[in-house]
Amino acid sequence: MLAITTARWPEVLPMSNRFRTLQQRLDSLVAKDSLRSLKRWPEEWAPPTETPGSGLINFGSNDYLGLASQRLGENAQQARGAGASPLVCGYTEPHQRLSRMLAAWEQTEAAVLLPSGYAACSGALATLPQANDLILSDQLNHASLIDGCRLSAATKMIYPHGQTAIVEDRLIRHRAEFDRVWIVTEGVFGMDGKLAPLAKLCDLADAHDAIMIVDEAHGTGVLGEDGSGACSHCAVKSRVPIRIGTLSKAIGAQGGFVVGPRVVIDYLINFCRPLIFSTAAPPGVIATAIASVQTIQQEPDRRARVRSLSSRVRQHLGISECSTQESEIPIIPIILGSNEQTLWAAAQALAEGLFIPAIRPPTVPAGTSRLRISLSSAHAEIEIDRLLRFLERLPQAMISG
Ligand SMILES: Cc1ncc(COP(=O)(O)O)c(C=O)c1O
Repeated sequence: MLAITTARWPEVLPMSNRFRTLQQRLDSLVAKDSLRSLKRWPEEWAPPTETPGSGLINFGSNDYLGLASQRLGENAQQARGAGASPLVCGYTEPHQRLSRMLAAWEQTEAAVLLPSGYAACSGALATLPQANDLILSDQLNHASLIDGCRLSAATKMIYPHGQTAIVEDRLIRHRAEFDRVWIVTEGVFGMDGKLAPLAKLCDLADAHDAIMIVDEAHGTGVLGEDGSGACSHCAVKSRVPIRIGTLSKAIGAQGGFVVGPRVVIDYLINFCRPLIFSTAAPPGVIATAIASVQTIQQEPDRRARVRSLSSRVRQHLGISECSTQESEIPIIPIILGSNEQTLWAAAQALAEGLFIPAIRPPTVPAGTSRLRISLSSAHAEIEIDRLLRFLERLPQAMISG
């Protein structure tokens, strides 16, 4: 067995056949002795009788000057790099433990870590959809998803943001031309603080035998009863077979992950280039991520607090057009339109001791430059009061949310 196994899916997914090609390619690797799997350094490498404990002599790391291993000797907690790709000797006990935790949290079969969320998104998209497949990708998807699509051999169609009618039309017209169709969306759109229409997209995926991939970058840790993200929040977790996340936002560490059926994760381990050809995330940082996930699971009050702060700020600003599901998302854009106005407003904020980043094209579409407010459970009420007082003084026409 290759990847980390946890409890079975809560429901039997009707889509196991959709990954048959991936399984066939993995099987062909076995025949050539080319199949790769993650082995935890050093335990699974050391012959137990000859090299007890961690006495294995490492001729596989890229630690050419011994600086990483020296740090390990001095203080196991000290920051050091993993030294190599997870497929060489960079996959350590914390990596294995976090993969297991993420798979269990996400109620799926397996998980794999990558050095960043960018690598996880771009790598998964570049690797999973194949030449005879179609990718349907939301127009406002994050650059990491877009770049993965660009690298993929599949045909790509970009649908207007959130327009499920267009997705449906593309599926009706083109589904039969392709082996598989992948629907790719962010769960929470990071520049808008809005949810993707996940339930409707899942309905379309089910009706037309397509596969959902959701980037949970801004949902992980914040949304859902269990804090696992937008798919949990929208009750579609078991209908989205592949979810991608980052350890660098609510989890407060660094790195990325993909969770899904074991065959998908095994396929990534064997074919995903940012995973195979990049040094694993530092073990100490992964240990930090483990502690954060434990905190998120044990302290639901943190997400309750940031969600209530988000509702409070939205209410105060009179932003009412978002659904109740969305009112708790801690990203609040103040769309000002021009770069000039946005930079002016950001400078005013800074002068008052408030850092609110100005977001301009190409990060957002032309003419929609904005201040992007990110709230945190760590903000004190008094700090929120200051934010609101500042926003009140912005010309009213500017705050259209
Ligand atoms: C939606 C989305 N996906 C992926 C990423 C990439 O995550 P990371 O910063 O861990 O590379 C980001 C980061 O900005 C993001 O906003």
